Amino acid sequence: MTSPLLREQLRRRAEYTHKFNTGVGRYGWLRLTPAYSLKIVEELIANHPDARRILDPFCGTGTTALCAAYQGHESVTADINPFLIWLTKTKTAQYSQTIAEAAQSACRQALDMIARRTVKPVSTPPIFNIERWWNLETLGFLRLLRAAIDNAAEPDTPVHDLLLVAFCRTLIELSQAAFNHQSMSFGNDDGSTLPFPVDRGAVFAASVQFVLGGVPENPSGAASVVLADARTLKDKISGSFDLVITSPPYVNRMSYIRELRPYMYWLGFLQNGRDAGELDWKAIGGTWGIATSRLTDWKRPEGHFRSTRLTNVLQAIAHAENKHGSLLAKYVAKYFDDMWTHFCELPALLAPGAEVHYIVGNSTFYGTLVATEQLYAEMLSALGFSRVECRPLRKRNSNKALVEFDVVARWK
Ligand SMILES: C[S@@+](CC[C@H](N)C(=O)[O-])C[C@H]1O[C@@H](n2cnc3c(N)ncnc32)[C@H](O)[C@@H]1O
Repeated sequence: MTSPLLREQLRRRAEYTHKFNTGVGRYGWLRLTPAYSLKIVEELIANHPDARRILDPFCGTGTTALCAAYQGHESVTADINPFLIWLTKTKTAQYSQTIAEAAQSACRQALDMIARRTVKPVSTPPIFNIERWWNLETLGFLRLLRAAIDNAAEPDTPVHDLLLVAFCRTLIELSQAAFNHQSMSFGNDDGSTLPFPVDRGAVFAASVQFVLGGVPENPSGAASVVLADARTLKDKISGSFDLVITSPPYVNRMSYIRELRPYMYWLGFLQNGRDAGELDWKAIGGTWGIATSRLTDWKRPEGHFRSTRLTNVLQAIAHAENKHGSLLAKYVAKYFDDMWTHFCELPALLAPGAEVHYIVGNSTFYGTLVATEQLYAEMLSALGFSRVECRPLRKRNSNKALVEFDVVARWK
């Protein structure tokens, strides 16, 4: 007999798997973006067969880069998060059959080391309330598995990278938390032991099989994946691009660092909560941990984007009947100031006639609609882009006002 709690956990996992992990091959390795985003990007690239160089300044899990590479294009993508840079490099790399066989054998060795207890577990990563993510037995297994992977494969090699992607998948599979893109929730608050899944080694082996299923899909185009800040892109990337396809952070207080922290801690990209907060403060739209308190003292820089629409929105939010109104108005102001700084980088990177696509949703704060797409359109027009359009793509949820747009413009 399965307990109601276990049934609920299975239901949630199936829902997660269905919604976020249906991608085939390398798209599905560790996808945190839903299937519709991939479809949009695939179509945009297919509609530009002559694009020579494609840019995505907000790489995330690398959808644009991988899609461009599969369709034979050269692309450059950037992100501020080193974990996403590693993931996208791993997804877009070339792998031989020999590497796939070596990964298969390294997987067997790692599981053998765990079974024979010939490996010392890594220390528990300092994730706050880690027992809410994994019960004690699972945590013990993951610590052994993480160490065994380092023993079975040389770090910083393609075999090691492939096993780490499988490790990340295993983290999700064995977690008590329902990971998804917008929020996270936990199956049981007390972290008590659940009898699921029974064979943790088999879960890892299945994850390795899944990852290896995508190995033969070597893309024909090359992707260059760069750790860079979209506000100072020119420091790391040079032109000229004829197509930009990107999905920037939304002005919705979602923290990518918060969502990704299990992977980032286990893979060593984060060492402590302070670093996590610092990274979130650097990220556009980040408001987690230290980022919230810093916002209190933050002042708009000289030369920020001037817009009556934005001023009205900021005033409405600041004067809403809510004690956080003025802080949230600062959050929204900083988001658009940061995006303006980013847009100002574009002209130097684009070829004449280049087309840009910013896929972004609007938001509401205390009943005030923040028409992100309109503000992007104003900024692009102010920079001299032509044919600026906000094309609605889909409603984001049951709230009719929340829509996702493709903000399209042409450079000169
Ligand atoms: C909406 S996500 C991109 C989703 C992406 N299309 C995908 O396939 O997963 C936005 C990304 O912007 C990144 N980001 C936030 N601030 C940044 C900045 N200042 N420079 C570069 N990337 C940044 C975040 O780390 C996040 O990965």
